[in-house]
Amino acid sequence: MRPASHADAATWYKDAVIYQLHVKTFCDGNGDGIGDFPGLISRLDYLQQLGVTCLWLLPFFPSPLLDDGYDVADYVQVHPAYGTLEDVRCFLVEAHRRGLRVISELVINHTSDQHPWFQRARQAAPGSAERDFYVWSDTTDRYRGARIIFRDTESSNWSWDAVAGAYYWHRFFHHQPDLNFDHPEVREAVLQVMRFWLDLGVDGLRLDAIAHLVEREGTTCDNLPETHAFLRSARAVLNAEYPDRVLLAEVNQPPDETRAYFGGGVGDECHMAFHFPLMPRLFQALAHGEAAPLVEILRATAEIPETAQWAIFLRNHDELTLSALLPADRDMLLQAYAPLPRMRLNNGIRRRLAPLLGDNQPRILLATTLTLSLPGSPVIYYGDEIGMGDNMALADRDGVRTPMQWSAAPGGGFMPAACAGVVRPVLPLLDDAVYGYRRINVASQDGDAHSLLTAVRTRIRLRRRHPAFGRGRLQFCAVSSPRVLAFVRQYGSDCVLVVANLSRGDETVRLQLPAGIGELATSDRLAGVELQRSGSDAAVSLASSAIGWWTAAQQNG
Ligand code: BGC
Repeated sequence: MRPASHADAATWYKDAVIYQLHVKTFCDGNGDGIGDFPGLISRLDYLQQLGVTCLWLLPFFPSPLLDDGYDVADYVQVHPAYGTLEDVRCFLVEAHRRGLRVISELVINHTSDQHPWFQRARQAAPGSAERDFYVWSDTTDRYRGARIIFRDTESSNWSWDAVAGAYYWHRFFHHQPDLNFDHPEVREAVLQVMRFWLDLGVDGLRLDAIAHLVEREGTTCDNLPETHAFLRSARAVLNAEYPDRVLLAEVNQPPDETRAYFGGGVGDECHMAFHFPLMPRLFQALAHGEAAPLVEILRATAEIPETAQWAIFLRNHDELTLSALLPADRDMLLQAYAPLPRMRLNNGIRRRLAPLLGDNQPRILLATTLTLSLPGSPVIYYGDEIGMGDNMALADRDGVRTPMQWSAAPGGGFMPAACAGVVRPVLPLLDDAVYGYRRINVASQDGDAHSLLTAVRTRIRLRRRHPAFGRGRLQFCAVSSPRVLAFVRQYGSDCVLVVANLSRGDETVRLQLPAGIGELATSDRLAGVELQRSGSDAAVSLASSAIGWWTAAQQNG
């Protein structure tokens, strides 16, 4: 492995392989049916062996849990069902001891209506500092340009509060009033929350719903200059006080707007941002069996600052959002991946990776390997490494949030077997014939050379040998078939050729290698890919859905 230079170590997030999980559904250590920090600690060895380098934890704070914890009732405590602050400290020590960094959530656009700030605000006199922690109005006519995000459940961004005798503003559920970022005390309080978790030892913070912080009349209330100004102040705190930590922006916006969250030339806002525009194009490319949607979006993604990094993902805890697509593309994806109404939610699809790809291991591996190959740091959603399914009988997005499937034992290894059948798990374990825990679980895939888990582990391990994947530039290769995507990633002397067959049939193609590519060697014993070099051309044969990586020597240095 190429040793990281000092400069590389400071930007560790560019080499990260991130694993997203919810403490609640990962592992129950005390047998009450709810995942907790001791349970998570007991599974850290698994995560280390998987090869991921960073864990992103979904919200674990006190909350009425009407939005799975994104309705925070206390920013500086732990939900009692998951453990204590001491458990979090212990988890951080244990994670760090294994070389795993930790990204936590900073949900600051809104709080729960149970948060003491809101309870205080609704009782306070209009115009007082306490009242102004939130955004109030006497009418629902203000900020009409802002879209409704949870349009399946909410009909307005305003709700009436009888105690306050006024309407309050909320971009998400009506029980999640938006904080008022025009109020200096709110900005200061939020920075204090940020410091609290950084002092405790987290390595990064995912900034939830960060595009909507500020409201202005006559705008969409998204991506406003004042929102960016607040982010610059948060970044300044990090730069001055916590130089090795990161801010990860959750903004579901078109490429240029998303890119703006990295800040100006040197990158003075967030270090990382999810590449939301890329994600549906990956699914589009797979549905059409052609490279064009990916090539187009990558070409439309402008350069980002040297210290910035995309976070690329296939699935997460939310619906697979299609809100950034043109209506025709959206309809095509809905037809392809969510033919039944119950598979849809808001502007997206509430299914997991394996069911989306028909439980087809080569397709799942192709999609996963693409996220490991494209510019950015990949984010793997827990359970997708073993091909877990979903449960559409559950409400909202719970169907993609069911307990991790560790084994075929009663309770699926999520909870102690002795408690299974006695205590009900926080969400039902999947128990159907295809995706149920008896068939899909870590234990059965662990030692199996042909399992999805083994393949994902191998790919992660190989990716980590190549800094080019996290840091390198990308050059497309001309290919004789629109169904095959080929590109070269290069960083210093590290250079990797990636060739992917997006179609469901076998493909034999000619591709043109960029200048300076020397001898090619497979770093992976891949089934179904063969390459014959002839000068600056290569003939590549790929089985259906196969993807190959070749390490390339460089002729000029
Ligand atoms: C989170 C969702 C949540 C919403 C409101 C999103 O960005 O990912 O799960 O419901 O914010 O907090």
